[in-house]
Parts: sequence; C-alpha cells; structure tokens
Amino acid sequence: MYNINFRAKRFVIAVLAVQIVALSSCRQTGEEAAKEKDSENSYVQIAIDTTMRDARKAIEEHGFKEPAISVIKNSLADLARINGLRDRQDLQGLHGSTKTEAVVLASDGMNDLTLILARFAPDEPTPVHDHGTWAVLHVLEGRDRYIAWKRVDDGTDPDRARLEKTSEQILHTSDSIHWFGPPHDIHSQVAQDGPAWELILAGSNMLALDRHYFDPATGHVATAKSQLRDEG
Ligand SMILES: [Fe+2]
Repeated sequence: MYNINFRAKRFVIAVLAVQIVALSSCRQTGEEAAKEKDSENSYVQIAIDTTMRDARKAIEEHGFKEPAISVIKNSLADLARINGLRDRQDLQGLHGSTKTEAVVLASDGMNDLTLILARFAPDEPTPVHDHGTWAVLHVLEGRDRYIAWKRVDDGTDPDRARLEKTSEQILHTSDSIHWFGPPHDIHSQVAQDGPAWELILAGSNMLALDRHYFDPATGHVATAKSQLRDEG
C-alpha cells in the first residue's frame, strides 16, 4: 500500500514537473519570440533612421539635385533590403481606395523630409494626381506602370487643367525614379499582375498635404483634403 501511494505520488510529481517544464518552455518561447520581434523592430527603426539621416544630410548639402537624388536612391535601396519593413498594420487607404494604402515610416514635419511605405493594388490605377512636393520612389517588390504628366495650360484656373503624358515606363523591383516639386509632380501609376510595394522619400509629408486629382479627358481638377489631417 505504502509502495503504491509512493509510486502514485512520484508519478504525480513527475507529471507536474513535466507540466512545469513545458509551461516554462512555452513562456520562454513566447518571451524569445517577443524579444526577437523587438529586436527586428529596432533593426528596422535603425535602418529607417539611417535613411532619414542620409537624406537630410544630402538635401542640406545639395538641395534636391542630382548628387542628393543619387544618395537618396542608394539609401532607399539599402533600406529595401531590411526584412520586416512591410509588417506594418497601420497602412491607410490612399487615393480613395481601400486597396492602395500607405503609411508614414518617419517624418521631420509637415513640410520636411518624410519617408512613406505604400502598397499599390494590382490593376487599380491611381487617378492622375500631384503631391505638392518632390520625391524619390523605390520599388520594394512588384511591378508598376508609372506615367508622368505635365500641365500644358497656364495653370491659372484652379478647376481646369490641360495635361499631356510626358513618359510611361514599367518599374520593376529595385528600380527607382524621382520627380521634382510642383508643377513637375503630376503622375499616375498602376501595379502590374500583383501588388507593388514602394518606399517614397518626399520633401514634405505628402500624405498630410492637400493634393489635386486631374481628369485628362475632361480637364476637371479636384482638390483632395488630406485624410490624415482630417483624422486629426
Ligand atoms: Fe503619387
């Protein structure tokens, strides 16, 4: 009887020990996963900060001219190699779409350097639009048909504009392009065959600025108030 009780107690203790070890192991795994995520987030943040620092220095030295544009393109290419950039849950709809989305990764202010991550939905062309600022765009992943437009009217009528296409190209993963400030910032784009993820480093927080939407067929111009500012 004594032996049975003793063996039963030993079994219960052994089971409890196994359960404690298993629980401890689970907790450790969870902690390790959280640490790993924190480490990845820190790594991503350091990479973002480095890109902003490079761009800030280049713009201070050269303005938005070729030497600075080249530095920014290289810095965005470096940033694009970092894993975890796209793991953002806070993308917001862009251009009136719920499928084309963007988020500010870093910003020096409303009218200063701003780094944006955007996801363009496949086969959903953006309207022809401007951003009120210069920018460099780097394709993280996917393909994008990018069309640049220019105003050929005198620009005096805020509600009407005459536009012409100036270029059309397919951007592939790792390609970069840039546009200059108004009135050279008018474009449209559409991802090809799948989503296109892009990094955009701009001279202002272009998600917080008003922008214009153009209908090249009718000449109609609409002004869109910033969604971000409207949200406070
Ligand atoms: Fe745009």
